[in-house]
Amino acid sequence: MRALKPMSSFALINYNMKELKSYLDSNKQRFLDELLELLRIPSVSADPAYNKDVRRMAEATAAHLRKAGADAVEIYETDGHPIVYGEKNVSPKAPTVLVYGHYDVQPPDPLNLWDSPPFEPVVKKTKLHPNGAIFARGSCDDKGQFFMHVKAFEAMLKNKMLGCNVKFMIEGEEEVGSKNLEKFCKENRKKLACDVVLISDTSIIANNTPSLTVGLRGLCYMEVEVTGPNKDLHSGVYGGAVANPINVLCDMIASLHDEKKRVMVAGFYDDVQKVSGKERKLMNEAPYNEKTYMKDLGVADLMGEKGYTTIERTGIRPTLDVNGIWGGYTGEGAKTVLPSKAHAKISMRLVPDQDPKKVERLFQKHFEKLAPRSVKVRVSAHHGGYPVVVPTDSVEYKAAEKAMETTFGKKPLPQRGGGSIPIVAMFDQVLKAKSVLMGFGLDSDDIHSPNEHYGLFNYYKGIETIPYFYRYYAEMKKKK
Ligand code: BES
Ligand code: MN
Ligand code: MN
Repeated sequence: MRALKPMSSFALINYNMKELKSYLDSNKQRFLDELLELLRIPSVSADPAYNKDVRRMAEATAAHLRKAGADAVEIYETDGHPIVYGEKNVSPKAPTVLVYGHYDVQPPDPLNLWDSPPFEPVVKKTKLHPNGAIFARGSCDDKGQFFMHVKAFEAMLKNKMLGCNVKFMIEGEEEVGSKNLEKFCKENRKKLACDVVLISDTSIIANNTPSLTVGLRGLCYMEVEVTGPNKDLHSGVYGGAVANPINVLCDMIASLHDEKKRVMVAGFYDDVQKVSGKERKLMNEAPYNEKTYMKDLGVADLMGEKGYTTIERTGIRPTLDVNGIWGGYTGEGAKTVLPSKAHAKISMRLVPDQDPKKVERLFQKHFEKLAPRSVKVRVSAHHGGYPVVVPTDSVEYKAAEKAMETTFGKKPLPQRGGGSIPIVAMFDQVLKAKSVLMGFGLDSDDIHSPNEHYGLFNYYKGIETIPYFYRYYAEMKKKK
């Protein structure tokens, strides 16, 4: 391909969105096939047994960036999984967009609950996806979503409608806490310098109700170990006289919530920002049907902090959940045993202005204090992350809003997401850049669950919307 002349190409962009759309339409099948191919690579970051596949996925991502026309494409080694980088400079005068995404996926288990194998993608119709959805681990989180950016980039470049400089940074450790990304960002501040970070790794409210994510919860993830007697004991000979660490752990966990389902860790709410009545009212205007919500999840009732709606409970309130609990005998049949040890993994979702480091200390202190003298407790911390709020009055947000409004025919609603992307707060601190969280998944796409899927409508809508973001962003930045 003829090299683009930097200065002139930026000035001379002749946007013809119809032409771009027809390029997208005539390449639809290939865009799908390429994604399906990537979904066949089991890039599970948490399990070392998949290390080769993770690397293969990094290589495939790099190859796609190269083929789409990116320059300086490279796989950067880290102490963990590699980071894929690529860029395209169109003009020093144009704003620079840093696209962040992750090519790693969650473990697929429990395998027996999948209707089709997790790494053999199939397209099937569902109620919410009448045009079909791709079923595979990573289809929505985040392969299908980061790949939309690669395809949109290809389309913009091929049709000479790329109005911003682009940098891609696709990592392989998001699902395990992005352990090595901060170091990479700190060591490559210049290389990663940008005006905005663009991320598709979140959800919209519904396919006819677009939304932009304006908040992410932070995370504090702990593990506890309760030890009673120095060995497993006969539960008849000793039961009733010696503390059973599982019983004790259950008591301790039960005491972490009060009857209003508030978290009882001392000091937990100290730094929680109060959200104005106006904002609460606005967020509750988003379409939400409690009956359908419950029915889809197979529950007869909901449970959460008193005084808050479901949207508020997942968007603006912090929570505490046990993710796993184990100990004692769990094999076939019955074994009468008073176990020596009990364990649990406990995570807390945080909201502004809670600090994961501080909450870690609060939890540790609280949990150690809770323990009766009959047991010993060990508390340790896993990865964490800071909560995020995104301002809605920025040029970045306005460009994303206008892009979605153009392609959906409806202005997107600002919505706080309940999940976490820990590195977003780090981008703010290290790269001094705000993020736009323009995801296209649905909360019901079963990310991290069996039968994860991503709608074809969502995939193509994303590819169609992204070029509008670039265009509006370039135009708005120029005017400023
Ligand atoms: N893409 C998700 C986060 C997400 C999903 C945010 C939907 C908003 C809506 C991301 O891949 C994820 O799963 N994050 C983890 C945190 C990480 C440290 C493992 C999470 O939220 O549990
Ligand atoms: Mn994700
Ligand atoms: Mn995830």
